[in-house]
Amino acid sequence: MAKPIVTSLPEGMTVPEHIGIIMDGNGRWAKKRGMPRKIGHREGAKNFRTITRYAKALGVKYVTYYAFSTENWKRPKDEVDAIMDLFEKYLDEVRDFIEENIRVRFIGDRSMLSETLQRKMKSVEEDSLHFDSMTLVLAINYGGRNDICHSVKNIVRLALDGKITEQDVTEALIEQNLYTEDIPAADLIIRPSGEQRLSNFLIWQSAYAEFYYTNILWPDFKGKDLEDAIIAFNDRNRRYGGI
Ligand code: IPE
Ligand code: IPE
Ligand code: MG
Repeated sequence: MAKPIVTSLPEGMTVPEHIGIIMDGNGRWAKKRGMPRKIGHREGAKNFRTITRYAKALGVKYVTYYAFSTENWKRPKDEVDAIMDLFEKYLDEVRDFIEENIRVRFIGDRSMLSETLQRKMKSVEEDSLHFDSMTLVLAINYGGRNDICHSVKNIVRLALDGKITEQDVTEALIEQNLYTEDIPAADLIIRPSGEQRLSNFLIWQSAYAEFYYTNILWPDFKGKDLEDAIIAFNDRNRRYGGI
């Protein structure tokens, strides 16, 4: 059983319902220590478990992690292979979350992943389907543009089957056909490592998200840093186009 987590968020803070995290900076973390990039990915993967537990202790309902983008296939094969191996290993460990009443979901195009990985993903999703203390969403081979494309394809199929007409195409319908179907829009997107861009993460879902950037590299990002992001979020005035 994991140690209980002691959080220190000041009283009265609103905790965002859905936080998206771009787990960036693993490579630089390793380079700074003269180690191969894959060691950075290993440390980053460990940290994802720690931060998930912390987020749950804070009362966050959905956390979506950007683990591998549709563009990350451009990296050298040995790095991609090392990342895929880590996913397999962590999918076994992610099962521990099931015991903590956490639902696990995956978003992204699975067809390019290995069969073993796809099978493990499906089984974790099925086994955690009814858990509701928090939903952990892992974006693997995910791209926001690909997500929208995937939604449009689903909708075209509905139209070709005569189930919908042009008038039925609404923002809600597009949303229901994204990989994030039933997951509320992102409230806060956190990107460590100093980069200030979305890199094709939840582009539709973050239309009104608040963004928080920090120079800390992902493997060094701690529960306290998550709290700092939430404190900054509480200082934002979300107007949604109003006044
Ligand atoms: C993020 O860390 C992990 C993945 C994209 C899989 P990076 O590997 O991008 O680390 P940096 O940005 O090179 O430091
Ligand atoms: C975004 O990081 C993808 C993930 C963290 C999985 P990248 O390191 O791939 O993004 P860029 O290339 O700096 O935009
Ligand atoms: Mg990077």
